[in-house]
Amino acid sequence: MLDLSSYDCYRLLDVLPYYVTIQDQELRIVWSNKAHRRDFGPAKQKTCRQLYKIHDSKCVDCIAKKTFEDGEAHSKEMQLTVKKGDRVSVIAYSSPLLDEVNKLAGVIVTSVNITSIKEMQKQLILVGQTVAGMAHSIKNIMMGLDGGIYIVNSGIKGNDQKEIKDGWDIVLLNFDKLSHIVKDILYCSREREPNFGLIHPNMVATEVYNLFKDLASRYSIEIRVDLDSTLKEAVVDPEGLHTVLTNLVTNAMDACKMDLWKDTHLVEIRTRNGFDGSTIIEVADNGVGIDKDLKNHVFEDLFTSKGDKGTGLGLMVTQKIMREHGGSITFRSRPSQGTTFVVTFPQRNLPGGES
Ligand SMILES: Nc1ncnc2c1ncn2[C@@H]1O[C@H](COP(=O)(O)OP(=O)(O)OP(=O)(O)O)[C@@H](O)[C@H]1O
Ligand SMILES: [Mg+2]
Repeated sequence: MLDLSSYDCYRLLDVLPYYVTIQDQELRIVWSNKAHRRDFGPAKQKTCRQLYKIHDSKCVDCIAKKTFEDGEAHSKEMQLTVKKGDRVSVIAYSSPLLDEVNKLAGVIVTSVNITSIKEMQKQLILVGQTVAGMAHSIKNIMMGLDGGIYIVNSGIKGNDQKEIKDGWDIVLLNFDKLSHIVKDILYCSREREPNFGLIHPNMVATEVYNLFKDLASRYSIEIRVDLDSTLKEAVVDPEGLHTVLTNLVTNAMDACKMDLWKDTHLVEIRTRNGFDGSTIIEVADNGVGIDKDLKNHVFEDLFTSKGDKGTGLGLMVTQKIMREHGGSITFRSRPSQGTTFVVTFPQRNLPGGES
């Protein structure tokens, strides 16, 4: 039978996983529990402002002070600095400590660390914003489709072959955009096992070149391939490689479209053998390049600099596929000059053991 009389209150408070402090009328900490001592170090006789490095202005609505003033419990969300220097988010509750004659003698402050919940909240907000952004992009594409269908219909009515062709081109362009977004979303949302096979990467590069060359010429962009004829067959997931190259070429073309300074624009897909048996593929463009400030952000999940014209899914999916291959993705870029993305697929054996 558990005999609680042998446990003093400090022993009980010490085992709690929350931070517990007791403060006096001068708001000095007179006692702190084990979890608090572990993260904030010795606290005795310090005010919370000194200990947590709280700016004066944030102390205006101090909950301990409020409890001393009105004898009521209060709560507040705040950020504190732990002894290692990290910032943690807590929700703090202050409660009055009464003496034997019911006089307010001190305040007990209990704080729950909610840093991970806050982080999750941030991620959820980001997901919400991204979904809204995607819905917006899809809506724009649907409007483009609508416009194309209208032109096709009007061409059919007037038996105008040129109008039908123009409208149909708009329909196809927007259909492509839509299927691209949907494919990226599906890639991100499911845990897909890569379907490894022994393939010739030059073939996939050629497929992607053929897919984009007409579209590129419509924007006066020349798209080229420079394929190493000695490139060896490699064990990769062909669908994954196709998606990687499609995303990199789309970005390269976007960068060229955004560049208003150069007379000619070029996107080049290059392949070569790595020294260690790996396969290296580069997608180079002479578009706008990537500014110093943006360089650290391009690989962040769902980062886009294209407003509602981009979803930020492209490089996220590309990185996921490269991870699945145990490969890597890097880039070099000079603002206003252009960018080269480099993907490296390591040499590997087929899952069955054949090479
Ligand atoms: N070749 C490139 N030249 C210049 N900037 C690039 C290039 N490739 C990527 N970026 C930058 O990286 C960002 C993220 O690219 P990512 O492909 O993930 O998203 P996105 O292209 O903006 O959107 P989506 O892929 O949905 O069209 C781009 O918005 C752009 O700022
Ligand atoms: Mg992209």
